[in-house]
Amino acid sequence: MTDFARPHTAPLQGVKAVLFDAYGTLFDVYSVAELAEQLFPGQGQALAVLWRDKQIEYTRLVSTSRQGPQRASVYQPFWELTRAGLRYACKRLGLDLSPEREAQLMDQYRQLSAFADSPEVLHALQARGLVTGVLSNGDPAMLQAAVQSAGLAGLLDHVISVDAIRSYKTDPLAYALGEQATGLKAPQIAFVSSNGWDALAATWYGYQTLWVNRQGLPQEEIGPPPVRVATSLHGVLDMLV
Ligand code: LAC
Repeated sequence: MTDFARPHTAPLQGVKAVLFDAYGTLFDVYSVAELAEQLFPGQGQALAVLWRDKQIEYTRLVSTSRQGPQRASVYQPFWELTRAGLRYACKRLGLDLSPEREAQLMDQYRQLSAFADSPEVLHALQARGLVTGVLSNGDPAMLQAAVQSAGLAGLLDHVISVDAIRSYKTDPLAYALGEQATGLKAPQIAFVSSNGWDALAATWYGYQTLWVNRQGLPQEEIGPPPVRVATSLHGVLDMLV
């Protein structure tokens, strides 16, 4: 059995709030890959993966860089980095991204659906009296649109965007926003992400974390191995004690 396929079910202890990553964790970005495949047959999957990787690479680039003698911020909102990532990925793959295709793909990103387990698990957490929220790289307008189109508005106590600090996860200041919004300390908060790197950095920060490995990916090769891994968000309910 591979490492990441072994059950990792350490209990979530003394948790008062559960915060979730957005894209790929609560919101299903599969529809984006489907549209990419329709527009570029045979290349949809490659485009979706490269687009996502470039989007995240740009978040790190602008978070860790400063410009000129004044060391000015080079922050750009997630929507702009998402568009830039799409343009780069298409050029890299030799795909003709017309303005119409770009608009279609970006619109798809705005109007995502929730994974089937998202409303179920958020509802169950609220029924248990836990605080719920999103802690995401998405900018506020993107997140509001996605929360509305996915029908999750009433199920989230907090929608936290890193835009408030003009930096991105995995900057510790980004994870600190979860503590500030809830008034809790990191060890009292469960952080749930489908991104292995996000779960790892949140663990380093001090959250109790759950990696929802929806895609059956290998775990990260650096840092402590994840102590909680599930294949769906239901894992969070099983591990709460
Ligand atoms: C987010 C991305 C990283 O929602 O999925 O923050």
